[in-house]
Amino acid sequence: MCGIVGVLGNHEAAPLLVEALKRLEYRGYDSAGIATVDAGRLDRRRAVGKLVELSDLLVHDPLSGKSGIGHTRWATHGGPTLVNAHPHRAGPVAVVHNGIIENFRELRAEMREKGYETVTQTDTETVALVTQDLMAQGLQPDEAAIAALARLKGAFALAFLFEGEDDLIVAARQGSPLAIGWGDGEMFLGSDAIALAPLTDRITYLEEGDVAVLNRGGAEIRDRNGNRVNRPVRRVLIDASRIEKGGHRHFMAKEIAEQPAVLREALDHYLQDDGIAMPQIDFTDVDRVVLVACGTAFYACQTARYWFEELARLPAECDIASEFRYREPPLSERTLAVFVSQSGETADTLAALRYCRDKARIVSVVNVAESSIARESDLALPILAGAEIGVASTKAFTCQLAVLMLMALKAAKDRGRIGDDALAGHLNDVRTLPGLVSHALTVEPAIEDAARALSQAQDVLFLGRGTMYPLAMEGALKLKEISYIHAEGYASGELKHGPIALIDGSVPVIVMAPRDRLFDKTVSNMQEVMAREGQVILITDAAGAEAAGEGTREVLQMPPVPPLLAPIVYAIAAQLLAYHTAIAKGTDVDQPRNLAKSVTVE
Ligand code: M6R
Repeated sequence: MCGIVGVLGNHEAAPLLVEALKRLEYRGYDSAGIATVDAGRLDRRRAVGKLVELSDLLVHDPLSGKSGIGHTRWATHGGPTLVNAHPHRAGPVAVVHNGIIENFRELRAEMREKGYETVTQTDTETVALVTQDLMAQGLQPDEAAIAALARLKGAFALAFLFEGEDDLIVAARQGSPLAIGWGDGEMFLGSDAIALAPLTDRITYLEEGDVAVLNRGGAEIRDRNGNRVNRPVRRVLIDASRIEKGGHRHFMAKEIAEQPAVLREALDHYLQDDGIAMPQIDFTDVDRVVLVACGTAFYACQTARYWFEELARLPAECDIASEFRYREPPLSERTLAVFVSQSGETADTLAALRYCRDKARIVSVVNVAESSIARESDLALPILAGAEIGVASTKAFTCQLAVLMLMALKAAKDRGRIGDDALAGHLNDVRTLPGLVSHALTVEPAIEDAARALSQAQDVLFLGRGTMYPLAMEGALKLKEISYIHAEGYASGELKHGPIALIDGSVPVIVMAPRDRLFDKTVSNMQEVMAREGQVILITDAAGAEAAGEGTREVLQMPPVPPLLAPIVYAIAAQLLAYHTAIAKGTDVDQPRNLAKSVTVE
């Protein structure tokens, strides 16, 4: 959360900083700001709201200088106000920050005692004050920043800019990602290489504990022990079209539509003529799978649990990352701990992964190959969904499911639960997935109609059984986060144990039920809802539509699918339903309130 950028360039920095921040807006968008140094003079501009507010401000009140830092905020400490917007300045130093300074209260008290005034509610301000204080004691700017960093506890990425220093930025990474970009006689900094894509493709990822002193000639990097280190410079090619809307109204719409193509890419990566290309995992010496993630990725894990248990007869557990690590579950070397994350930077998931280090074998299923989670895993399996910008995860979810499904099939084969013929049969089905997803996308006009009615609802329930149960929860999450309608996902059979009390004529109930072995049971639960005037929208296939009988408000028809593929294909309906409901309500689809794409604080 929060995006930070830095420029030591040969052109005006402000437009470059704003452009780079635009690419990081997915990390937070409640305020933004930049600071520059021009002929030694440090100055800043900040604005509440989205980046466009800052751009407008800069038109009327420009900021000159070829060196600068910038920030787009997702508030942790202190509301989204102008005074709390970054960069924070204390005398000769300006600071931008992503993360949390856990000991800021002690530091703030100490600074106040020394007579420094605090004007914000943020933790970041104390970093600037401590640095200012150290400079006042005679330390050079870079020395002061490094000494200040040594006093901080927590997880953060920070960049410092100084009055009187046109050719200096100090940057540090401890728990939040930070990348250095190398230009020709220019240097850049960003929370993510995407931010730097138009500026350079030569990227160095800082490691945990690294501090970098940047000037136009390069970067001097020291590790957590203060030793000078060389970190590799890599070519990171980011296809610009992947981070543009490509004619769609929203990134979310584009990302939903991309699913047939990205699923094909993911499947091509893992499918061979006669099997699944995951040679680094051998399930013969695994006796338990533990799947850990947050949000949508957690629902992908919950779906995978059905697959590991049913196909491979391999005990599987799922946990929300923020609970898992504090539960301190026992693990063994025969445990495969699987961490699923689109960004690969989710703080809770990363902390859970670190808990498992030296206790279990660690595999991650990630979208961002250079992410912390990928780099700290024994094995990282890419989902190859391409850049996902919309805060609501869509294509990453279905690609996570595809990779987890292949893992479960590999486990089934390795453990002798299915033979060559059965595996070949499953893989033939899997190869039809992109086509089935394309077919599911054609249902969009009917879903749009259903969504218009849904947008009037106060509360919505999603029901499903088997792998449709995690999808029910995912459907509810999607609807909540972008339309702000209260929604819950339940296991169909659980309804009568309490939630049925919520049902009346005003509550739409989305039932996700392909015509599979659980269909009749789900339809019985659906009847219980309809008997209480619940407004059922049934998502099923042609056979299900026929068998369901009368009384539903609407039936949205999916293509017939092999049971294994159903959660991936039906996910399209859930995504489109949320998307069109949000459109009907007029909410901000790509940047819903209070959320950020990459959740790098615990
Ligand atoms: O980057 P991650 O997959 O680790 O993110 C996990 C969740 O924060 C994320 O899935 C979140 O729930 C999405 N906004 C859901 O659409």
